[in-house]
Amino acid sequence: HRSAAFALRGPTLSLVDDPFLAGDEAALRYEPDGLILVKDGIITAVGSHAMLKAQVPPGVVTHYPDSLILPGLIDTHVHYPQTQIIGAYGAQLIDWLNEYTFVAEQQYADPDHARAVSRLFLDECLRVGTTTAAVYCTVHPGSVDAFFQAASEYGMRMIAGKVMMDRNAPLPLTDTAQSSHDDTLALINRWHGKGRLHYAITPRFAPTSTPRQLELAGELWRQHPGTYMQTHLSENQAEIEWVRQLFPGRANYLDVYDHYGLTGPRSVFGHAVHLDEREWQRLAESGSAIAHCPTSNTFLGSGLFDFARATRPQPPARPVRTGLATDVGGGTSLSMLRTMGEAYKVGQLGGYSLSAAKALYLATRGAARALYLEDRIGSLEPGLDADLLVLDLKSTPLIEFRMKHCQDIHEALFVQMTMADDRATKAVYVGGRLAYSRN
Ligand code: GUN
Ligand code: ZN
Repeated sequence: HRSAAFALRGPTLSLVDDPFLAGDEAALRYEPDGLILVKDGIITAVGSHAMLKAQVPPGVVTHYPDSLILPGLIDTHVHYPQTQIIGAYGAQLIDWLNEYTFVAEQQYADPDHARAVSRLFLDECLRVGTTTAAVYCTVHPGSVDAFFQAASEYGMRMIAGKVMMDRNAPLPLTDTAQSSHDDTLALINRWHGKGRLHYAITPRFAPTSTPRQLELAGELWRQHPGTYMQTHLSENQAEIEWVRQLFPGRANYLDVYDHYGLTGPRSVFGHAVHLDEREWQRLAESGSAIAHCPTSNTFLGSGLFDFARATRPQPPARPVRTGLATDVGGGTSLSMLRTMGEAYKVGQLGGYSLSAAKALYLATRGAARALYLEDRIGSLEPGLDADLLVLDLKSTPLIEFRMKHCQDIHEALFVQMTMADDRATKAVYVGGRLAYSRN
């Protein structure tokens, strides 16, 4: 679409490098009075207001003082149908799936329900500044049509797919190896690459797929370059033991997926809480990504993610590509700010103090890199999509007071990720369009 050029003025903050490798100071770029020029949905220039103001007439500049303009936040693993079961009491993974998840997901046989929740979910994403997510739908192809239709109306860059599940689930939620292949193929042809939409081949996790289903998932992924593959990996000890029993021939949990050709660029593994050394190495060398889900891993009692291991360079490979994720409804908030705050606490319990710059990286540039989308989203750079979050730095009286006592941008960002919630979202731009405004 063609549209007139406009600009946002205000403090800007984004990552220009990987802080886990380059260090926080080198990787974080802060411009106290910045200007971001946008045309046709794309960022055309980023710099200081003083330097760039001559390039735009004052009438097209929107000024956001007392704010931070950030790249739109990225959620690398979330289940939109589970929006209705956030905060379900008392269970760990397998019981939680049976008692809550598999009950709720049956409602998505109804396309009207799927459409309504898709819109509610996207509205809530915008309210917390999330502009891209990797999304699980349900086993029903209609749940994918509903979601992609809504996402395309919202103009959001979204990754999503139909859950494939041909065993160990209630009958109304199961497909067959062949039908999951045929339905997935039709959905790829209908949606992948349409506008800003990307398809993710989505075997739920090893326990709910037969070997044949995983084999066909691998074939489909190979035959459709550019599509994603998303699933769950090593979240919970009972789950890991179950996988050992179901796939006795495989060396470890990741090896099940590896065996069926389900590792590599554009694969995204949710959780990865309990991995052995061979699994870490294989994830790194294959270019696979991890979606770390801190609020889910504490809420479901799954365990503590190993930040130090994930982010350690492993020659010849770099660290494992890692993004943050909410994993709603196992996770307790759709807010990536809240997720950053909880990631810090998970790190603390494992002796790792995740800095604000690193947490922001995992929700923006690092998440984009995990998804092989760093040339489109996750940073404030010319040529990238104008997906932007304007954060109010004074969203509550207490936060406003606390900000007066911040020494630098690192502390200010850390306080925001520790304290702020959806009230801090002042505005969200999606593809250069104002998609949400608090007032
Ligand atoms: N493992 C398999 N399915 C799921 C799910 O829906 N949520 C979580 N947290 N883990 C899973
Ligand atoms: Zn999940």
